[in-house]
Amino acid sequence: SQVQDMSSVKTAAAKNMAFAFDIDGVLVHGDRLIPQGKRALEILNGDNELGIKIPHIFLTNGSGKKEAERCQQLSGILGSPISTDQFIQSHTPMSALAGYYNTVLVVGGEGYKCREVAQEYGFKDVIVPNDIYAADPTISPLREHFTPEQRATSNPKDFSKVKINAILVFSDSRDYATDLQIIMDLLQSEDGVLGTRAKDPVSQRIPIYFSQGDLLCPTEHPTPRLSQGTFRIALETIYKSITGVELERVVYGKPELATYKYADEVMTSWMETIHNEVHLPKNIYMIGDNPASDIVGGNMYGWNTCLVRTGVYQGEGNDKQNPASFGVFNNVLDAVMAALKKEL
Ligand code: G3P
Ligand code: MG
Repeated sequence: SQVQDMSSVKTAAAKNMAFAFDIDGVLVHGDRLIPQGKRALEILNGDNELGIKIPHIFLTNGSGKKEAERCQQLSGILGSPISTDQFIQSHTPMSALAGYYNTVLVVGGEGYKCREVAQEYGFKDVIVPNDIYAADPTISPLREHFTPEQRATSNPKDFSKVKINAILVFSDSRDYATDLQIIMDLLQSEDGVLGTRAKDPVSQRIPIYFSQGDLLCPTEHPTPRLSQGTFRIALETIYKSITGVELERVVYGKPELATYKYADEVMTSWMETIHNEVHLPKNIYMIGDNPASDIVGGNMYGWNTCLVRTGVYQGEGNDKQNPASFGVFNNVLDAVMAALKKEL
C-alpha cells in the first residue's frame, strides 16, 4: 500500500542520515544535563514515528577520562545508553600514535587518569609531569602544592637516563607553571633527555601533540572557561620568545581533518552495529555550540552544521565568521527535530 511505501522510503532516509553530537554545551554543561538533550537522544534511539534507531555518534573535544568511564557517566546523566563504539573524545584518535612512540610524557587531566588512558591506548612507558616533579621538585620552583595523593601515585626515577620520544598533551593542564616548565625543558633537550641541552633546537627536538585546540570551554560557570588551546598558545609564545624559532606541533580534535576522518570510520562501523549495513550515511548533521571548532570543521568536511545557543555561542543570528550551514537553534532538540523534518 501507499502507506507502506511511504514508510519504507522514510526508513531508508532514516538510515541515510546521521548525527554527530558535540557534548559540552550541547547535551551537558560539565556534569549537568541540558534537558532537551535527553529527549533528543530518546527520539534517535527509537522513540520516533518509524520506531527506528537513527544513527548518531558523539564527537567531543572533551578529554581526561577513559572512553568507557566517560560513556558510563554520560549514559547516567542523559538517561540513554552511550557505547564506546559511538564515542570519540579529543584524544581517542591519538591511540594510533602508540605504534610510533615507546616512551611518552602525557600532560593534563585530573590526577593520574591520563596515564591510565594512555596505557589503555597501548603506550608502553607513560610518564606524567608529577613523576618528574617527584624525582626533583626544584624543576618547578613556582609550584606550591604536591598532595600526598599526587606523591603516592607518582613514579619518580632517574630521568637523566630516560629518553622521552614525544610529548602528548591529552587534557587541560592542572598546573600551568609546572607543565609549561617541564615541556620547555624537554623541547630544548637533546632528543628528549631531561637535563641535556640540544645543540640544534629543531633537529633534536622531540615532537609535541595536542588533543584539541579549543580556546574556550563551556562549564558550570556562567561564562566559558579557558581550555587547552590557551595552554598551547602560552607554550608557543614562550617557546618562540626563548628560542627564537616557531614551535611545530600537531593538533587533534575538532576542527582538525584527522578527527572528522576518524568520525567517518566510527559512523560506518556504528551503522553496521545498529542496522547491519556497512555504509556511511550521506546526510550528516553536526550539532555543536562552538563555531570555531564544531561548525567550521563540519562545514569544511561537507556536513550539515547546526549551531545551538546553549554553550559557547550566545549570539542572535548566525555566527559571522563560521555560519552554521543548517542554521542556528535554541537547543539540541530543536536542531534534531529540524533535521528529521528535512530528511524524513
Ligand atoms: O573545550 C573542551 C571540551 O570540554 C569541549 O567539549 O564536547 O564541546 O567538544 P565539546
Ligand atoms: Mg561544545
